[in-house]
Amino acid sequence: MTDARSPSPTAPAAAEARRGRPTDVDVDALRRLFLEFFEGKDHLVYPSASLESDDPTLMFTSAGMVQFKPYFLGATPKFAGYEGVHHRVTTAQKCLRINDIENVGRTLRHHSFFEMLGNFSFGDYFKPEAAAWAWEFLTEVVGLDPERLYVTIYTDDDPAYDVWVNEVGVPAERVSRWGEDENFWPANAVSEGPNGPCGPCSEIFYDRGPEYGSDDEDGPNTGSGDRFVEVWNLVFTQFDRKDGGELEPLPQQNIDTGLGFERFVAVVTGAEDAYATPLFQPTIQRVAELSGKPYEGMESTSHRVIADHVRAVVFAVADGVLPSNDGEGYIVKMLLRRAARHAWMLGLRDPVLHGLVPQVVEAMGSAYPEIATNQERIQAVLKAEEGQFLKTLQAGIDRVHGVIDEVNARGADEIPGDVAFELWDTFGFPLDITLEMAAAEGLGVDRDGYARAREKAREASRGGGAGGELFHADGNALGRIAERSDESEFVGYDRTEAEATVVALLDGEDEVDTLGEGRRGVAILDRTPFYPEGGGQVGDPGKLEWSGGAAGVTGTTKSRQGLILHELRIVRGTLHQGQTVAARVDPARAATQKHHTATHLLHAALRAELGSHVAQAGSLVAPDRLRFDVSHPEAIGADQLARIETLVNRWIQADFAVQWRTVPIADARDAGAMMLFGEKYGAEVRMVSVGPGAEDIGQPGQDAISIELCGGTHVARTGEIGAFVITGESAVSAGVRRLEALAGMPAIAHLQELKGTVADLARDLGGAPDELADRVAKLQTDLKDSQRTAQTLRDKLAAAQTAGATRSTVREAAGIRYATQVLEGLDGGALRNAADTMLAKSDADLVVLASGTMLVAKASDEAQARGAHAGNLIREVAGRAGGGGGGRPDMAQAGAKDADKVAAALDAVGEILEALAKGS
Ligand code: SER
Repeated sequence: MTDARSPSPTAPAAAEARRGRPTDVDVDALRRLFLEFFEGKDHLVYPSASLESDDPTLMFTSAGMVQFKPYFLGATPKFAGYEGVHHRVTTAQKCLRINDIENVGRTLRHHSFFEMLGNFSFGDYFKPEAAAWAWEFLTEVVGLDPERLYVTIYTDDDPAYDVWVNEVGVPAERVSRWGEDENFWPANAVSEGPNGPCGPCSEIFYDRGPEYGSDDEDGPNTGSGDRFVEVWNLVFTQFDRKDGGELEPLPQQNIDTGLGFERFVAVVTGAEDAYATPLFQPTIQRVAELSGKPYEGMESTSHRVIADHVRAVVFAVADGVLPSNDGEGYIVKMLLRRAARHAWMLGLRDPVLHGLVPQVVEAMGSAYPEIATNQERIQAVLKAEEGQFLKTLQAGIDRVHGVIDEVNARGADEIPGDVAFELWDTFGFPLDITLEMAAAEGLGVDRDGYARAREKAREASRGGGAGGELFHADGNALGRIAERSDESEFVGYDRTEAEATVVALLDGEDEVDTLGEGRRGVAILDRTPFYPEGGGQVGDPGKLEWSGGAAGVTGTTKSRQGLILHELRIVRGTLHQGQTVAARVDPARAATQKHHTATHLLHAALRAELGSHVAQAGSLVAPDRLRFDVSHPEAIGADQLARIETLVNRWIQADFAVQWRTVPIADARDAGAMMLFGEKYGAEVRMVSVGPGAEDIGQPGQDAISIELCGGTHVARTGEIGAFVITGESAVSAGVRRLEALAGMPAIAHLQELKGTVADLARDLGGAPDELADRVAKLQTDLKDSQRTAQTLRDKLAAAQTAGATRSTVREAAGIRYATQVLEGLDGGALRNAADTMLAKSDADLVVLASGTMLVAKASDEAQARGAHAGNLIREVAGRAGGGGGGRPDMAQAGAKDADKVAAALDAVGEILEALAKGS
């Protein structure tokens, strides 16, 4: 039970926070208030986990409990960097949820990124303490009016009712019971899952007053108004859900609470909503300043979308999730693009989002220093991405308006799915933005049609590398062929030869019955082992043979209609429609497969070495090489590359099984397969896994090195790859790196070539290859020694030459004693040294020396006092020998053009000194 009925020592801070206007309350103090309150109840204050969740079932961390899942199930709650065992923990957790993204900004209540403050008990305290402390914190520490607080409980959770009513003292009429959709966590877990730790929950609501309510609103979870705000969710995690909805009691009882910080700040400060608090106001005000559009009226939606999304992106990027085309990165990209569009709608035509990062840092940086320390990097990422987007945005927006006009003109109420897809495909317009723009005009979007168009495009892009001829062939003839025949059956995953029947032949764009000897064309077979270009893997070459004839296949692609097109030339005989042929893929396919499996291993190794923000941005898989583009903000260092290369080779040595099978999409997701987010997969997908016991991959308890959804062809065991070498690393665009690598024999050939180069060098330098490094080091030392010796000799040479410069060679002009001399074989350094020596040893106060075309002048303090200026002098001297130069009053250098005129120019020094003296 609660021990503190007296005011908490921190209460004044809350009162202070509440007294301020909503825009200048100290939110950091409010956050601390929570953590310190639970620290006072023996909780460990533990840091927020990264937004990028380790949990394979989640894209982002979405609740405070995510990082603690094992402890609810009984794992010992020990934490790296903290001594001892902690059964009570409190956190402020960064969370990101995108399921309601279309409502963010439109309402005042939705956010993508948010903070969840929580207290957790892992088999320690349970309902009585959790309820009493929550009540104490809200009413005594924060000072909310207890009369305004309401509590909900799960339908049959009588113990919770007893605690709230009889122990905490909440009047019975303010406690209500609800079903599993409201008062179980995860929601509906009893009937729908997921399996795992779960339990009934109690929610605490705050009554903002009837002025916020609707007529039908008379308590929490009723009506459509905003009167009752859910502030805190207390989950009594006491069950482990099993298949079939069986709730098995956990060996220990746990507490998992989540207090939505944004709402909490709004409630405590009496602000209208979270956007009116200092969490968002700096950004919103900056948007208003930049756009000249005040935060009010309809347009304020844009201010909110921008403030919410930029904040989310700042945190995601700080945690290593960069914008990309799949996975978490795609979410970040989508958030950025939505924000960019809203900025555009406010009339902002230049990239501005990166300029809002300081405002986010101002609001949140002291609680989350990672955004402050990464500010510049975050800004660079935002700037690159929004610049790119803005370029295409205008074109896309115009097109959407055009489409909307067309739809209205037809009297239809939906944007056709293929048009919506084209908007995405051509203008990079995410579907949700189209949906939103359509909704603003009272229209919908045909989502099924969108999914179909997307699937079709995916098919087509597998055949997208078709050469010019094939591209033209993809016209009407193909449509007609597709109508009368099935899609080509691909049988080449585990073999490279098959017997097949010619379904159709094309000559150019026309369908023909026969192709004669020497003709080029396209053959479509009912089934084929030829892999059509797609997913980065090149299309197979090979040959078709039939009795009396043969054709060479130069490439294979797939048409939009799902037909596999063999581009060929008839070498011998005539090929007829209906002919039975033996289709034989070129043996180079074996090398292509090695590179393809190696690409998956490389992807896995990159993620292992660099972090799971690494996402595939493109690839090429060929028989002689592979290329893999990944999202990563900076160059990958030589050490990292070496480790990645070693890891891949280790996996090759381990000779893991590579297994592929077609599974329902849900199974692939459960297995943690890497998928392209936003990609519309069919109900069944092909999952390629690599690892020990790959047969069982996807079954619980089996570790996989890599699981990807992939349509390509692969080796059966990693050992077949033999060897793997990374040959290059470079930048493709902002935030995307390109790796080039070789597998199998090409890798060996590359190593042999390097070995050859090393052997040649070793022979030239004299010694064995393994002595090369020593040799080169020694050569460098020798070279330095020689250079030093040469310098000494030059200095000696200069000294010998200038030794003769005696009193008699010193002349005088304009009251300055000067000497000149042409020396031989000196470089700049030696010439300057010689000038110093001569100035010191002779009676001259100014010396001008030359060697070759080089000139140096030095003037002593004495000479300068008498008006000499080495820089001005040398300019004139050099000028007389066709050159130029200048310098300081005490020292100057110049180059002559004409070596023959140097001696005469030196002879003129006296004259020049006089002239300069007169001139000054
Ligand atoms: N896990 C619960 C929620 O997300 C309480 O922290 O609401």
